Amino acid sequence: MTSERNRDDIRIRPATVGDIGTITAIYADAVSNGTASYELDPPDRAEMETRFVALNRGGFPYIVAESDGRILGYAYAGPFRTRPAYRFIVEDSIYLSPDARGRGIGRLLLEQLVLEVERLGFRQIVAVIGDGRSDSASVKLHGRCGFRFSGRLEGSGYKHGRWLDTIFMQRSLNGGNASDPDPDFRSEQGVGGGRQLRP
Ligand SMILES: CC(C)(COP(=O)(O)OP(=O)(O)OC[C@H]1O[C@@H](n2cnc3c(N)ncnc32)[C@H](O)[C@@H]1OP(=O)(O)O)[C@@H](O)C(=O)NCCC(=O)NCCS
Repeated sequence: MTSERNRDDIRIRPATVGDIGTITAIYADAVSNGTASYELDPPDRAEMETRFVALNRGGFPYIVAESDGRILGYAYAGPFRTRPAYRFIVEDSIYLSPDARGRGIGRLLLEQLVLEVERLGFRQIVAVIGDGRSDSASVKLHGRCGFRFSGRLEGSGYKHGRWLDTIFMQRSLNGGNASDPDPDFRSEQGVGGGRQLRP
C-alpha cells in the first residue's frame, strides 16, 4: 500500500480510478503539446484506465499530487521492458498540469515514488526522458532526486517537426547490483505479463 505524504497544501496519495479523468487530461496536454511522451495521439480515458488497472494489478505504485481536491499531477512506476530479466528495474513516468509546474510538486511526487519502489525491493529505477536536454525540468528534477546520467539515444524520436534525443537517467535502489537479487522477487506478480504498459 502506498503511503501518504503531505507538504503544506499538497497531498501525495495513491491514485484511484476516480482520478483517471483528470490524469487523462493532464497526459493529453503533454502528448499534444509536448515532447516528453513519444505518443502522438492522446489515449482516451478508457485506455488510461486500462493502463492504470494493469499497473495496479502488477503491484506498481501510481500516485497523485492533490491540492484542495484538485489533481495537479501524477507519477507511476512500471516495467522498463517486459522480458523477465528486466524484472528488477522500473521506469518512472511523471506529468504535471502546466499551471502546477515549477513549484516543487514534481520533486514531491518523484521522491515518494522512489521510496515506494525501493520499499518494493527493486534494484534500479530509470527515467527515459524524451527530448532530453541538460537544462530541461525533467533532467534537473531527476538529478535532484539522485538519478545520474546513463545514456543518450540521438535522433530516437521525431515529433512536432523535429528529431528528438532521448536521455536515460538511473538511480540504484537497495544496493543496486552490489549483491545478488532475491530469487523469489516478484515471482507471482510478474512484470506485466508481456503486455506493454508504458504510455
Ligand atoms: C518535468 C516535471 C515533472 C517537473 O516537475 P516540476 O514540479 O515542474 O519540477 P520542480 O518544481 O520539482 O523542479 C525540479 C527541478 O527542475 C527545475 N525546473 C522546474 N521547471 C523548469 C523549467 N521549466 N526549465 C528548467 N528547469 C526547471 C527546478 O528549478 C528544479 O531544479 P533545482 O532543484 O535545481 O532548482 C514537470 O515540469 C512536467 O510535468 N513537465 C512536463 C512533462 C514531463 O516532462 N515529464 C517528465 C517525463 S520523463
